[in-house]
Amino acid sequence: MAKTQSFTCSSCGAKHPRWSGRCDACSAWNTIVEEAPLTAGPSKKTLGGKGRSIELLDLAAEEAPPPRTCSGMDELDRVLGGGLVPASATLVGGDPGIGKSTLLLQAAAKFAGAGLSVVYVSGEEASAQVRMRAQRLGLGDAKVRLAAETNLRDILTTLDRERPQLAIIDSIQTMWADNVEAAPGSVSQVRSAAHELVSFAKRRGTSVVLVGHVTKDGQIAGPRVVEHMVDTVLYFEGERGHQFRILRAVKNRFGPADEIGVFEMTGRGLAEVANPSALFLSDRETRAPGAVVFAGVEGTRPVLVEFQALVAPSPTPQARRTVVGWDGSRLAMILAVLEARCGIPFAGLDVYLNVAGGLRVSEPAADLAVAAALLSAREDAALPADMVVFGEISLSGALRPVSQTENRLKEAQKLGFSQATLPERSAGSIPKGVTVCQMNDLATFVGEIFGAG
Ligand code: TYD
Ligand code: MG
Repeated sequence: MAKTQSFTCSSCGAKHPRWSGRCDACSAWNTIVEEAPLTAGPSKKTLGGKGRSIELLDLAAEEAPPPRTCSGMDELDRVLGGGLVPASATLVGGDPGIGKSTLLLQAAAKFAGAGLSVVYVSGEEASAQVRMRAQRLGLGDAKVRLAAETNLRDILTTLDRERPQLAIIDSIQTMWADNVEAAPGSVSQVRSAAHELVSFAKRRGTSVVLVGHVTKDGQIAGPRVVEHMVDTVLYFEGERGHQFRILRAVKNRFGPADEIGVFEMTGRGLAEVANPSALFLSDRETRAPGAVVFAGVEGTRPVLVEFQALVAPSPTPQARRTVVGWDGSRLAMILAVLEARCGIPFAGLDVYLNVAGGLRVSEPAADLAVAAALLSAREDAALPADMVVFGEISLSGALRPVSQTENRLKEAQKLGFSQATLPERSAGSIPKGVTVCQMNDLATFVGEIFGAG
């Protein structure tokens, strides 16, 4: 049989008929690699024969919700959609050193405490290292079975013998399937190992959690190609210099995506943060120009965060636009709307925008808070210290209402904020004791908050 060649982008997983320097699908350079075929596909002859007829079902057939096991770590259970689902496959991705192994070791101990049989397979650290870490975290007597192994065949044989309810594989990049001729960590190995483990999960009813490393630019062969195969994709993120870690669901077949769990890295492992708003605002300077508190919602939970902007004359002809924690093209859009609809130019000015605490905000509802931070920095005029801001800005300069107004305002009130600026026609009632200022467009906002000048 002729050897079939296939080329895959290690960044986005797109398939290409031939090698090229740039992936058409994700525009990344130098990411296309040749991949050995996993198995020979079925030949024409076998498909021509008579197959088994498959029974078709109605959509309306009764299906009980999956039974779930809660670890007792609320931040983790919520992100999973209300606990761990049996026979599910979960990918936990994140930068190296962010704390994935720590999180999963703690989760393993918690799930074992909740009555599950748990196996933790480390392909990166020796058993002694994992045991030492467990003891340092105070998990020495958790009923977690441990193995340090990278040979996938041996791991699957062992799992088949043990039939655990939860198996944690740390990490998928170190796994090595002996039927694939490629180095561990390559696309074919990662894809093959993930495929084997996910089908094991479905076949044997074991929940499998895979750890995957990603680098900042997502270049390395890895989690991207696994994302399609698993039920749930969680990303563990955070800035190195900050102690906060965010566990974010980006795909979940058993629950809402976009849910976040907040943790704090301490000397004794990860601690849950039940009230992230207080944490993100804790070191807030009062009434600083350029600082605006945004009442946001992450998944089902309201979270207050501070946007900080700095606007200064640019020493170079090409003014800088630097963003941390928010979308750079969205910033460009808001600068354009401020200029075109409100007559406030930013040409010749360097603009820096930062979300305090290392959180990444992706809600369009943050538009108005960003605009307020930019104006406040540009005019060197601080907003009232007890004010929160939220609302989406459209290209016409109109303010569009956003969801969960009541939720946002209640959280703000809980943290001592008593004023809010938001779009008109926002649904939901206003909690007593909060003064709201509602407006229709950005120009009105500029006039109201910063005066006609
Ligand atoms: P780790 O879980 O090994 O990261 P990953 O598996 O994602 O590569 O975490 C490594 C970092 O976490 C390391 O820099 C030290 C820090 N850490 C703590 O601060 N406290 C702790 O209790 C532990 C176990 C780790
Ligand atoms: Mg690790």
